[in-house]
Amino acid sequence: MNSRNTKMTKQTSVFDCTLVTLEKNHQEKGNLTVVTNNHNIPFEIKRVYYLYDIPGGEERGAHAHKELQQLIFALSGSFDITVDDGKSKRTFFLSRPNIGLLMPPGLWRELNNFSSGSICVVLASQEYSESDYIRDYQEFKDYKFSI
Ligand code: TYD
Repeated sequence: MNSRNTKMTKQTSVFDCTLVTLEKNHQEKGNLTVVTNNHNIPFEIKRVYYLYDIPGGEERGAHAHKELQQLIFALSGSFDITVDDGKSKRTFFLSRPNIGLLMPPGLWRELNNFSSGSICVVLASQEYSESDYIRDYQEFKDYKFSI
């Protein structure tokens, strides 16, 4: 990542998170929603992963990404995502398969209050890389507030 992008990542705030509503093809037989690159997602999707069979009371996340952008949906059930930029926090309740949370890099996130049987699907801008993670909250704050 070049220094300009690093600076942008450090400057992202919880107010850069947005809810994205995808079109719902509604029929009597059920709904259908389509996700395509270059149409309704502001990044190229390089990876899709999902969380499921989450035990009651479990929490996921508790990390930040340096570069990764994500669009996160509750494909089934519901859960909360709390985002944190080191100064402010916001909590989003996801419960619709066609309304996703678009997250820029540089934000700490925690996912909890998963309903029974819920499925969290994540569309991601990059392949998996452990070096893109910050898993220590103090390290995250140091990263955000260093020049
Ligand atoms: P992690 O992203 O920490 O999960 P969560 O934030 O939902 O708690 O990933 C959990 C484990 O899975 C971790 O050891 C890394 C691994 N993993 C992959 O191997 N590939 C992936 O694409 C992802 C997202 C995780």
